Amino acid sequence: MDYSQKISERLWNMPDKGELESHREETFIDDIIQKSHIEKELLSHLDGIKTVFDGGAGCGRFSILLAKHGCEVTHFDISRPMIKKAMELAEKEGVLDKITFINGALENLADFKDHSFDMVISFDAPISYTYPNQEQVIGELIRICRKRIMISVSSRLGYLPYLANPIQKNQFILDPNCNDPFVKWCIDNRANAIEDFRFNKDAVIDLWNKGLMGGEAEIAEYENGGVPWCITYTFIPDELKNILERHGVKNIQLAGPGAYARTLPNELLVKIMKDEKQRSDFLDFCHYYDSNPFVCGMGKDNLLAQGEL
Ligand SMILES: C[S@@+](CC[C@H](N)C(=O)[O-])C[C@H]1O[C@@H](n2cnc3c(N)ncnc32)[C@H](O)[C@@H]1O
Repeated sequence: MDYSQKISERLWNMPDKGELESHREETFIDDIIQKSHIEKELLSHLDGIKTVFDGGAGCGRFSILLAKHGCEVTHFDISRPMIKKAMELAEKEGVLDKITFINGALENLADFKDHSFDMVISFDAPISYTYPNQEQVIGELIRICRKRIMISVSSRLGYLPYLANPIQKNQFILDPNCNDPFVKWCIDNRANAIEDFRFNKDAVIDLWNKGLMGGEAEIAEYENGGVPWCITYTFIPDELKNILERHGVKNIQLAGPGAYARTLPNELLVKIMKDEKQRSDFLDFCHYYDSNPFVCGMGKDNLLAQGEL
């Protein structure tokens, strides 16, 4: 088994993972924007879609949504705690019987027959955590898909600015007084992160050239029994488009959820989010702007791609 898979398994199997992930939209504005964008895309492409495979489905943000809209969903994830949380939420929403939950790794989809699902989705970077098998995984997701594929992966152009901005997540904190440990960490470490920051040209060029975040240090931490963040492969828009085309996907559209919001300071983002009308208008416009393929690389974390078979 590759280190990426072993590291991913250990990280996402942390017992509190499901609970923490299920509160993301209450804590971070960029997560609200991303979810709203993907939701709009999903709901406007449900014609003729009955069966859905959600790869790396987490705590069910999209599998539950689709089940509520009448789809039969296969919720597939490497982490048992995430699946447990998803089952709990699906039960609350009354769609437990509409979803089949499977614990497994995207690196092995051999059990699924060709063209088994009308739509295949995989959102918020599970594919990026399968390095060096990311292209094979995309190929497999396409193989089991009949009509429409929709995925979001880590974006290289989107991530490069992080290397010059260790406090980027602070821009998107919705409520600084909430209980989330990561919000607290971002706030408590803000001053130190700026104080300790040095622009590292070698690191930027390395990410630009190789697309990899993480590597030797994460493997060493894993071998010492630690729980590092996933080794993450980041894609360039053209690269992702070419991979999809090579595997027979047509009418490919790329988007970058979060690109528009990136230009706004925290104070204004919070103000917009707290007013229901402005929030709804803003999310509509973000979707419109972030769907322009020329900004897709600057989606905050994720590059969204969809197309037809
Ligand atoms: C950031 S979460 C995204 C969850 C969900 N797709 C969403 O958008 O809310 C990433 C998910 O991918 C899962 N994952 C990571 N690596 C995986 C792998 N190799 N195979 C299957 N699932 C994986 C994790 O367990 C986690 O639930």
